[in-house]
Amino acid sequence: MNTTDNWLVHDHRKYEAALREVELAAGAGQWEEAERLFREFVEDFKLHMRIEDEVLYPMFRESVAESGEDIDSLTEDHNDIARLLHDLAYVLKHREYEHFEDSLAPLYRMMLDHDAYEEEVFSRFGERSLLARRDEAVARLNRMQPSDNRREWSF
Ligand SMILES: [Fe+2]
Ligand SMILES: [Fe+2]
Repeated sequence: MNTTDNWLVHDHRKYEAALREVELAAGAGQWEEAERLFREFVEDFKLHMRIEDEVLYPMFRESVAESGEDIDSLTEDHNDIARLLHDLAYVLKHREYEHFEDSLAPLYRMMLDHDAYEEEVFSRFGERSLLARRDEAVARLNRMQPSDNRREWSF
């Protein structure tokens, strides 16, 4: 297992657990707590997606010619996840709690599928691309600016 895998797998398990915490709080009727946990999770998770969208995915595209289709699919997943996050944020904001489970379930499933797929893709291409360019990856991460975020968030 390499460093990229460790970072990726660690973050993925953390976000999956965080989303479960949101669900548990909601299930116990603690809506304020559910909303607080959701916001905490989502702020962190937005950054995770940005790092992938703006640094890691482009670097895979550049270094591994055959990664294109997989990176396209992973990017599509991010678009779907962003849509589902918007749905859930809407439900919480407008206290439409009767729709909560219907919004959370597809998001959680999508996250699990995406995370597993991404871990598989990264470990398939990771060793010979990203690690060889680790300094550049770090430099690109450091250059990321809030204003460059291409993804639009309404919350
Ligand atoms: Fe991702
Ligand atoms: Fe990820």
